[in-house]
Amino acid sequence: ERKIIIDTDPGQDDAVAILLALASPELEVLGITCVAGNVPLALTHANARRVCELAGRSDIPVYAGCDAPMSRKLVTAEHVHGKTGLDGVDLPAPTMPLADGHAVDALIDTLRREPAGTVTLVPIGPLTNIATAMDRAPDIIPRIQQIVLMGGAYFEVGNITPTAEFNIYVDPEAAKIVFASGVDIVVMPLDVTHKALVTAPRVAAFRALPGTIGPAVASWTDFFERFDKEKYGSAGAPLHDPCTIAYLIRPDLFTGRHINVEIETGSDLTLGMTVADWWRVSGRVPNALFIGDVDADGFFTLLTDRLAQL
Ligand code: BDR
Ligand code: CA
Repeated sequence: ERKIIIDTDPGQDDAVAILLALASPELEVLGITCVAGNVPLALTHANARRVCELAGRSDIPVYAGCDAPMSRKLVTAEHVHGKTGLDGVDLPAPTMPLADGHAVDALIDTLRREPAGTVTLVPIGPLTNIATAMDRAPDIIPRIQQIVLMGGAYFEVGNITPTAEFNIYVDPEAAKIVFASGVDIVVMPLDVTHKALVTAPRVAAFRALPGTIGPAVASWTDFFERFDKEKYGSAGAPLHDPCTIAYLIRPDLFTGRHINVEIETGSDLTLGMTVADWWRVSGRVPNALFIGDVDADGFFTLLTDRLAQL
């Protein structure tokens, strides 16, 4: 069993990532730390608890974290995720309480408490909580086993500006700290998540699952899809965030390159760009495994099979 902390801003695709993790016996979810991103913090932590309750896992500690980026104003994405962040399914207000303490302290305490090299971080929102923890307690950095994050884009270019992906764009200073940390990083950029599309037969497979979870995932992806269809003419919603969890269970489904990735924080024009040295032309030291491809059928089979077990 691999111990993970999911750092998240749910978000329909975040919700599916959480469900996939909770359905997977290979992973032990030590906690969920919430951050402002797709919607403001008060909604992301309520949504994370809604998702835990949907999965019957109100035992998972859910922490509230940073409500704004390290040094910028929050940019949200209601245009993609709807006003609640989880539009598409009406879930009741959560009854489980938030866990005590700030998400940044929870990250620091957990990494100090668990044996070094045994806890993997899975950030699927802006990197504010993670970078703040690194900043405040640098001793935790060498204790992190790996960071498997969703963020960035290169050949696929941006989804919030022409050159930037949302999670990195919202808090580029935080992303810079994380990519410079020296931790073993795996990146799921838009280049790969835009190949993990929920096509009509894949939604139908979710909807046909017994119980409430499969149909909820189908309705979420239907909601999510309307945006990408209009915008990119794509054949289905990209399931960005669950790629991180799938990688932890089945890394063989993914391929990428170990390269240098730097974050643009200076230019207004290209703010938040992940400058990925795919052809290794810069001479800069590789700091991340930048994923470029996925076996999409394998990924959706895994996801559907796991959701069926919840
Ligand atoms: C990322 O941004 C959010 O809208 C999604 O939840 C995902 O984490 C994709 O750019
Ligand atoms: Ca997200």
